[in-house]
Amino acid sequence: MTDLFDPCEFNGIRLQNRIALSPLTRTRSNDAGEAGDLQALYYAQRATAGLLITEATPVTPGGRGGPNIPGLWTDDQISGWRKVTDAVHARGGLIFSQLWHAGRLSHSSLSGGKPPVAPSVMTQPGQIFTAEGPKPYEEAHALTLDEVQEIIALFRAAAVRAKAAGFDGVELHGAHSYLIDAFTRDMTNKRTDAYGGSIENRARLLVEVLQALVGVWGPERTAVRIAPIGHAYQAWDSNPEPLFTYIVERLNDLKVGWMDMVEGDTGISRTAEPSFDLQKLRRLFKGATIANNLYDRDLAIAARANDTADIIAFGRPFIGNPDLVERLRRNAPLTVADPRGYYGGGPRGYTDFKTLEEEAASA
Ligand SMILES: Cc1cc2nc3c(=O)[nH]c(=O)nc-3n(C[C@H](O)[C@H](O)[C@H](O)COP(=O)(O)O)c2cc1C
Repeated sequence: MTDLFDPCEFNGIRLQNRIALSPLTRTRSNDAGEAGDLQALYYAQRATAGLLITEATPVTPGGRGGPNIPGLWTDDQISGWRKVTDAVHARGGLIFSQLWHAGRLSHSSLSGGKPPVAPSVMTQPGQIFTAEGPKPYEEAHALTLDEVQEIIALFRAAAVRAKAAGFDGVELHGAHSYLIDAFTRDMTNKRTDAYGGSIENRARLLVEVLQALVGVWGPERTAVRIAPIGHAYQAWDSNPEPLFTYIVERLNDLKVGWMDMVEGDTGISRTAEPSFDLQKLRRLFKGATIANNLYDRDLAIAARANDTADIIAFGRPFIGNPDLVERLRRNAPLTVADPRGYYGGGPRGYTDFKTLEEEAASA
């Protein structure tokens, strides 16, 4: 027996089950960064999850990690997302918008010629995919104190738009070495002002952005994604345990409702160094914990049996299986999506995966 498939309630919000769609960038917006009918269909197909979390949604053009990512940096982008939320709600689903700033992992071609921004001057090794093809990452500009305040205002404005678009809540993308995460880690943050140095200072931007989101949405509808021991983009912290213990204490102060925790290195491994027992964070956190990374059916059932998470988020398994919840419930085979369809393109590899019923009908 497992309660993975049972309705539950957290923060006054009822979920159909304890399975979430993990945020997945799919880069299929139009050139204006608007979502539309295609995204509405994609999310509605997956609306049987207890909670859907959208793809990372930039709060400013220079916060994009690539082209064709639907954003919330202008009011013109609200109506496209409204199609998405209406379609999800029509199927009884619940959907949070993941708000994002890619920081140094963006490119001047996405921000009208301005360099990418970061806590400190740094050039990410490797290449970014732009509208003109792959290009080397550029040297990031270290945000001034005034610009840090502007970043907070951008998140607040996007959170207001998310409300106008009919979302059920917002999630701050605080993971994977993007701007917010980069501020928290000593490897990417070399500042000597109020936003660098001590743990308290490095966590300050994350806390202040969350304060802004809580101000718009209330704590019950505010989530944050963290990856305490993640190494995305070859970045980490020398001592993540005290850093993330401090962060979770601040989440509790703010009464943040949901902590979406990537366990280990996203998509690669459930362990990483420097390591510590992530269950300490789960036990410390007073809200609902969403756990993610490389879960399968057995691991998810075990997580509920051992109460190591309240909700389990699946990423890649949801790409090829719009009815993942039903397939897991029946222990039915899963369709493995071709990674070449993860990013870009149209309906192919996005909205053309079949449910069990559709497979049976076409057999
Ligand atoms: C195509 C793709 C896009 C992703 N986009 C995002 C994203 O926008 N935001 C985010 O927080 N994580 C993103 N991730 C990470 C996933 O949410 C998740 O952490 C990862 O896939 C591991 O979970 P899984 O093993 O269930 O797939 C992405 C992963 C993939 C494969």
